[in-house]
Parts: sequence; structure tokens; C-alpha cells
Amino acid sequence: ARHLLSVADLDAAAVRRILDTAVEMQEVQRRQVKKIPTLRGRTVINLFFEDSTRTRSSFEIAGKWMSADTINITGKGSSTSKGESLRDTALTIAAMGVDAIVMRHGASGAAHQVARWLDELGTGTSVVNAGDGTHEHPTQALLDAYTVERRLGSLDGRHVAIVGDVTHSRVFRSNLLSLAMLGAQVTVVAPPTLMPSGASAWAERDGFTLSHDLDAVLAGEVAGGVPDVLMMLRVQRERMSGGYFPTPREYTIGYGLTRDRLAAFTAASPHGVICHPGPMNRGLEIAADAADAASSLVLDQVSAGVAVRMSVLYHLLASEEGASA
Ligand code: CP
Repeated sequence: ARHLLSVADLDAAAVRRILDTAVEMQEVQRRQVKKIPTLRGRTVINLFFEDSTRTRSSFEIAGKWMSADTINITGKGSSTSKGESLRDTALTIAAMGVDAIVMRHGASGAAHQVARWLDELGTGTSVVNAGDGTHEHPTQALLDAYTVERRLGSLDGRHVAIVGDVTHSRVFRSNLLSLAMLGAQVTVVAPPTLMPSGASAWAERDGFTLSHDLDAVLAGEVAGGVPDVLMMLRVQRERMSGGYFPTPREYTIGYGLTRDRLAAFTAASPHGVICHPGPMNRGLEIAADAADAASSLVLDQVSAGVAVRMSVLYHLLASEEGASA
């Protein structure tokens, strides 16, 4: 079966195919054609063991707009609460003859593991990773790229600063891969305590820049100059078991996109845009002025999420080429 587990499953041509098809899907949305028959007779199950607003509902809308039957299962309402294992849960769902499982799980690698189990049994069920622990969130990276390209034309040669809680961010890990494929230059900005260990060697190997100084990055004092794109990450307090350092106030002072930093960014990069995958901690990593600024693409990202997920489901379930490289 075809799966989308990581952006690394794709090459640049496959990413481009998904983004191009998403343009067509968004045209369908714009024309208010609510349903196309592309996935008629197909069944897509959203299997979510972690909470979600955007990803789960946009996959459901995407499937419905392509005439697929879509069903939601959440960890709390499923028999996993009675002790059923992930393997038995996945095999049970696949045995019902579903075409795709869109899966979110708190454990890194969970979607890969489910795909392996299903492949071993030859079920033919596709697995889409909708976020696994701190590992990857490939459709988020695709919709981020789509949104920025629609505003700036291309990511090729653009400077993207990814800012915040890098250690816990699957959005960061997926974006790092897709941005490299699309030709962007990346700077990763985080407090030392929220930068993954081994980041220096990683940056050297994969050709991105590391910084602990957001103001220096906004002033263009790193390779690539003033960023064209500020990608703010959510501080993931639910993944910080031992409390977290810096304190919320220190975090905002050092790494928040405050009103003053928004003014500095707007002056230095008049065409520059701000992204955030959501959900936002307003007042912590992003001020309300920045979240709601004309340069903020936050709601464009949400809107693009439907078109990009339509495109992903199309390439996995309906096209000849498939989504993968
Ligand atoms: N960006 C994102 O994955 O949001 P949800 O957790 O609401 O799906």
C-alpha cells in the first residue's frame, strides 16, 4: 500500500505534484463545488489518539468533499480504553476493508509501526501520519509550504526562520525536510533548553543555521539575512513533564513574537509573512498583534489544510503516480 509517514517518503517532484494538485483542489473549493466524485466508494478512518482541531476536521472535510466515507475514532472513545493494543486496533480497522487510516499518536514512530503491521498482512490499507509524538507531521509541512508559496510565489532562495520549542516539534522536523526540497534557506531559533541535543551536527550535515538570538535573526545578522518567513512554533507544555525552563515570561521576552518584534520584522521585511501551525498560545510565543497582523498566514494555513489533504488523499488513493517518491 502507499503511505505518507514522513516528508522523507517524498522527493521534490512528489512534493511539487501534491502542491500543484492542491492548487486545483482549492479552485474546486473556491467555485463552491462542494463535492467531487474522486474517492466515491473509498473509506477513510481518522484514528486520533491525541487531540486535534485542525488536522482531524480538515482530513474529514477533505475526504467528504471527494465523496469518500470518513469516520472518526478517538483514543478515548475506542476500545483502547479497555486495554486493546495499537496493533489489534489497527488490524481491526483494516479488517473492515478501509482504504486509509489517518493516524495521530503520542508515540514517535507509531504510524510507521502501524504501516509495517498492515503491510505484513497485505491489507492494502494506506497510512497517513497526522502527527506522531515529536517526530513528524508531514501534511502540516506540505500545507505550510503551499500557503507560503501562494503568498510569496516560491520558496526557492527564501529565508525561513523556524522559532521556538524545536525539541518537541514534529512540525519543525517535517518542515526542515520539505523546505530543503523546495530550495529555502532555514535558520532554527530556540532557547538552548528547547534545542534538540545534537542540533549542531545536524545543522552542519543538513545545511541550516542555528541561533539562540531571535533579535539578531530578525536584524538579518545570520546567513540568509532578514527572514522572509517567520514560522513560530507552539510551546508544547503537555510534553514537558518536569516543568519547563525558561519560564513563560522569560520565554516571551527572549523568543516571543511580541508587538515590538513584529514592528521590527515588518520594517525590515515588508513582504515578510508569519506562520503558526496552531493551536497558538497567544501572549506566550506569539502576541495577538502578530497573530492577527496582515502578514499573518495563520488562517490561510488552516484553509490550505483542506486542499492539501484532499491532494494527499487523491495521490494516495486515486492517482497513478501515488504520493511517494
Ligand atoms: N496544527 C495542528 O496539527 O493542529 P491540530 O492539533 O489542531 O490538528
